[in-house]
Amino acid sequence: MQGSFERAGLVLVGCAVILCAGVVGRRPHADPSSARAVRVARGEQMEPIVPLPRRVELDERKVALGEELFGDVRLSGDGTVSCATCHIVDDNGAGSTPRSVGTRGSVGERNAPTVFNSGFNFRQFWDGRARSLEEQVDGPLLDPKEMDGSWDAVLRTLGGDAAYSAAFEDLYGGVTREAVRDAIATFERSLITPDAPFDLFLRGDEDAIAPTARRGYQLFKDLGCVACHQGLNVGGNMFQKVGVARVEEQAVERGSFDLGRYEVTGKERDKRVFKVPGLRNVARTAPYFHDGSVATLPEAVRIMGLSQLGRELEVEEVEFVVAFLESLTGERLR
Ligand code: HEC
Ligand code: HEC
Repeated sequence: MQGSFERAGLVLVGCAVILCAGVVGRRPHADPSSARAVRVARGEQMEPIVPLPRRVELDERKVALGEELFGDVRLSGDGTVSCATCHIVDDNGAGSTPRSVGTRGSVGERNAPTVFNSGFNFRQFWDGRARSLEEQVDGPLLDPKEMDGSWDAVLRTLGGDAAYSAAFEDLYGGVTREAVRDAIATFERSLITPDAPFDLFLRGDEDAIAPTARRGYQLFKDLGCVACHQGLNVGGNMFQKVGVARVEEQAVERGSFDLGRYEVTGKERDKRVFKVPGLRNVARTAPYFHDGSVATLPEAVRIMGLSQLGRELEVEEVEFVVAFLESLTGERLR
């Protein structure tokens, strides 16, 4: 059994390199020069993880407007919740509770992912039901358990506010749903976390990360983690089943029966399929997994070894991989 898991891992890694080359090239804000820098820095070898661009070209006025909207509780039905209530931008872009609390104390089903670097994900939400950040906005805004708002009310509020209506008039020719979605998405795209020690390492500074983190990166590749967690966001560019290598004992143990992408497509093969989360800043985004059921990073890594690779990782292996994951924390969060 063990052998076949390992072979599956190797096949996956092979695919990953191909996938990565193809997928990363299509990222909307991928900086092509960074991919080249990697090849040069790492001895002509194409690495499966790509450093984040140091900046993205965006209309700063739209970013500023989006930031206002993101933090504005008046967008919610009862005027108490904003996007920033659950996605704390001065901290990790998420929260630190397993499930987040929306209007009137209602608790949702899933853990809030960080909005940092979300512009690099190929889809939004754990089940990928939104194709873009623009499309994503309606989800929380209208969800009775999150902001419990309505477009009519939002447009009325913004239209009745002198500062907002002037800004929208100026940038979009008026207050519309599309304009609100665009401004919020533009702000989110500005939330990047470049210059993690690991990115400096990829760009050629061998000493930017500790020897333990380097061993961890090698393990991350050798074990096959990289087959799913790769590219600019070290994830965020494919769907995968949770528990591919082993049956769902872990999920059952954790009492979690979220069917993931199946709830979007209704297809049998999509049961327990989730978007592979990006692992940038993962040392700062506990608790883990779609249900926020795991409190610590070593435990999340151990579970991944079992559920995705069919391997009981040694304590030392977990430590090395965690050291590598810690090197993915961008400067913004240090
Ligand atoms: C009550 C808490 C709450 C509020 C308020 C909230 N979110 Fe979220 N956010 C979540 C949760 C939980 C998820 C994951 C839901 C899922 O995957 O089904 C999520 C997912 C996301 C994602 C997807 C990230 C990814 O990697 O897939 C983005 C982007 C996002 N929210 C932005 C926003 C914006 C913009 C607003 C305001 C319009 C907002 N959120 C309001 C809790 C919240
Ligand atoms: C076959 C694909 C696949 C492989 C291989 C894989 N992962 Fe994952 N990883 C996922 C998916 C899917 C999730 C989301 C699981 C969930 O929410 O239940 C995830 C979640 C995670 C998380 C939690 C992230 C968060 O924000 O909650 C960490 C940490 C992680 N993986 C690390 C690893 C490590 C380390 C390895 C190698 C030992 C690995 N993964 C191998 C697909 C994979």
